[in-house]
Amino acid sequence: MKGIVLAGGLGSRLYPLTHATNKHLLPVYDRPMVYYPIQTLVDAGIREVIVVTGGPHAGHFIHVLKNGKELGLNHLEFAFQEHEGGIAQALGLCQDFADGENIAVILGDNTTDASIGPAVQSFERGAMVFLRQVPDPERFGVPEFDPQDSSRIIGIEEKPAQPKSQYAVTGLYLYDANVFEFIDTLKPSGRGELEITDVNNRYIERGELHWAELGGFWSDAGTFESLFRANAYWAQKTTGRCCEDFSRYYR
Ligand code: G1P
Repeated sequence: MKGIVLAGGLGSRLYPLTHATNKHLLPVYDRPMVYYPIQTLVDAGIREVIVVTGGPHAGHFIHVLKNGKELGLNHLEFAFQEHEGGIAQALGLCQDFADGENIAVILGDNTTDASIGPAVQSFERGAMVFLRQVPDPERFGVPEFDPQDSSRIIGIEEKPAQPKSQYAVTGLYLYDANVFEFIDTLKPSGRGELEITDVNNRYIERGELHWAELGGFWSDAGTFESLFRANAYWAQKTTGRCCEDFSRYYR
């Protein structure tokens, strides 16, 4: 399987930090943020990765990631997203890279110590999302479960005011090659973006969306609170020094 890291956008929720560099290059304890999602892919046995980036600091990535060898990659390439057209649009730029293979996609601001290795190894077709119970599902894509069969997701809503479950759809996804056909048919959402949630809903319509619950720590890092939370967790984990209950910073 090939890996895709989506690391575009302006990171405007983190201004003024992101006037200096791309969000995904900001520090999470002792490493640039993007190291973590790449490490998650490498730990799952993935050695070929594309990083999609954009915005005014896109050139900074090459200095940090170089050819990817230090991170355990055999092949690293980059794509440039010209406009802030959304996660699904960024993914659409990777069709040639994927070249018909299954892909593991991870958002560049998602850090986790969970392993997606077993899911990557057993994945064949359709799509797979990784869910996580959170106290603030309205910040995320939120699944709705079939009341008759709670193992079945019947729809996903992007940032719903009234969430239909306590779960977030995390920014880790496995897709088969059909994903690019689905992206071609998407229309921009209310926020003017092609939404990854709409891609996942296409798979639901076809009865091909699988899910698993992500264990371990997981957080995005696109707001000051979540960036701080990610830093607090990884500082604690990396140094082995237990300090405070970082979850109290969760908002
Ligand atoms: C994006 C996705 C959302 C997902 C989240 C995970 O949100 O649109 O469905 O739950 O990533 O980090 P965004 O980061 O654009 O707010």
